[in-house]
Amino acid sequence: MRQDEIWNADAARRYDTPGTGMFAPEVLEPTLDRLAELAEGGRALEFAIGTGRVAVPLARRGVPVAGIELSPPMLDQLRTKADDATIPVVVGDMATARAPGTFRLVYLVFNTIANLLEQAEQVACFRNAARHLEPGGRFVIELWVPDLRKLPPGQPAVVMAADPGYVGVDTYDVLHQQVVSHHFRYDEQGGNGAAARLFRTPHRYIWPAELDLMAQLAGFELESRHADWSGAEFTAASRSHVSVYRLAAAGHES
Ligand SMILES: C[S@@+](CC[C@H](N)C(=O)[O-])C[C@H]1O[C@@H](n2cnc3c(N)ncnc32)[C@H](O)[C@@H]1O
Repeated sequence: MRQDEIWNADAARRYDTPGTGMFAPEVLEPTLDRLAELAEGGRALEFAIGTGRVAVPLARRGVPVAGIELSPPMLDQLRTKADDATIPVVVGDMATARAPGTFRLVYLVFNTIANLLEQAEQVACFRNAARHLEPGGRFVIELWVPDLRKLPPGQPAVVMAADPGYVGVDTYDVLHQQVVSHHFRYDEQGGNGAAARLFRTPHRYIWPAELDLMAQLAGFELESRHADWSGAEFTAASRSHVSVYRLAAAGHES
């Protein structure tokens, strides 16, 4: 399963859910508040910008935003909301592609660093973020904490969510630190034999400590880690985190 096969025209067309799910104001508003604050009036670059869920409203708040995105169909959806002059986007891999200029902030949200399936690619992604930043600039990552405590020995799958018309199942390969999320959507009223729609995304899961080491390899220090965008304390029970990494300021000697 390659990322460009996953994020195809059909996935791109279904991605936006205005006002609900990941597009709900209670999800987006704290994200935008925090990113605008961390941009400190400078330019921001979103890795894996997608259809512009975050970038479009962030640009509307006056933060200059650019992007890198692998999938042309996702970018086509973004272009229905913002033109190239408003949000310039380079089509390419966030681990290697170069966007013109330098930035105060690079951000990578919604667990998407885990879409890079090799450790070396994830480290390269940190290095690529560093390459785009001004001295003292920040790289912000939103990522889930691997849910392996739910996985009994010998069992390769767990139900991660079950709602009316939706069941989500994660299948694990713990030897290779891989998890595939299977999202099944179906009509609640449909009888037996009715088709369910399946969307699958493979990930390489990352522990917070491993993420910090990747950051260190690229020249970053962890500035803050919270359980959400509003600054809730990160604890052993937290299911995800917002981690802010910072490059040394110019002239800094360590
Ligand atoms: C879950 S969506 C997130 C989109 C957007 N950041 C958001 O928060 O709504 C994942 C996106 O990552 C993109 N993607 C996956 N691998 C990528 C890579 N190596 N480089 C750039 N984009 C990538 C996909 O094409 C897709 O648009």
